[in-house]
Amino acid sequence: MDHLPDENLRYKDVDYWDERYTTEQCYDWLGGFSKFQHLMGKHIKKEESILVLGCGNSSMSGDMYSAGYHSITNIDYSSVCISAMSARYRDSPGMTWQQMDVRQLSFPDASFDVVLEKATLDALMVEEKSPWTMSQQTATFIHQTLFQISRCLKPGGRFISITFANPFFRKRLYARTEYNWSIKDYTYGDGFEYYMYVLTKGEQLCAEDAALERKWMEDPPPNPPTSQKEMSEPEDDFLSAIGL
Ligand SMILES: C[S@@+](CC[C@H](N)C(=O)[O-])C[C@H]1O[C@@H](n2cnc3c(N)ncnc32)[C@H](O)[C@@H]1O
Repeated sequence: MDHLPDENLRYKDVDYWDERYTTEQCYDWLGGFSKFQHLMGKHIKKEESILVLGCGNSSMSGDMYSAGYHSITNIDYSSVCISAMSARYRDSPGMTWQQMDVRQLSFPDASFDVVLEKATLDALMVEEKSPWTMSQQTATFIHQTLFQISRCLKPGGRFISITFANPFFRKRLYARTEYNWSIKDYTYGDGFEYYMYVLTKGEQLCAEDAALERKWMEDPPPNPPTSQKEMSEPEDDFLSAIGL
């Protein structure tokens, strides 16, 4: 692969993405639309307004447009990406492209039926050496982003998050009463297993997820596993997974 960075940390760096998008035409992280279309169809109606976070040069928005989703706002903090993608899809009315940081969305409250991200939150977490711990800075970035997503969702709207992170690690970020959503998780993929989380605004966390939130409020983040039982908990090779 021509575009792999020298170190994973560069995935946080807008200059890395600008440079990459200067030459790379199209790359789909965690698989293309056809791999998870069956799941999306159950959670997004064709006429709904959709915001795609960290769109990159993925074909997902274009494929969704071809499948009949015609109200898609795409954002990315790479200006190179946004100018290339807006030129590519200039003949697709209802599809728009804006340079914006996911941590500071400039849309009014309750603007979208659906907010969608694929591998973008993963890119915000690349500084972490292990999924077991998280620096205060990354935790703040993630919280800012999730807060903004929740704010921009209409009541009953859905945040759809596609990631390599399994529920054991990802739900601890999403299960917060403050975001005012419920969580469902799905898997897709053959060979590699990826995850789709559907968080519905205005619904309560289920009892299990509310208990998870309480546990995290009461206890500091856990140490990496030491016992045999804990070792059998799912663990992703975080950095190699993001480097796929
Ligand atoms: C791993 S790529 C995923 C691209 C695309 N979503 C896909 O599925 O193929 C991460 C994307 O998020 C963008 N990105 C990273 N941090 C961002 C931020 N803070 N605000 C907006 N976009 C960001 C990068 O420019 C890059 O296009």
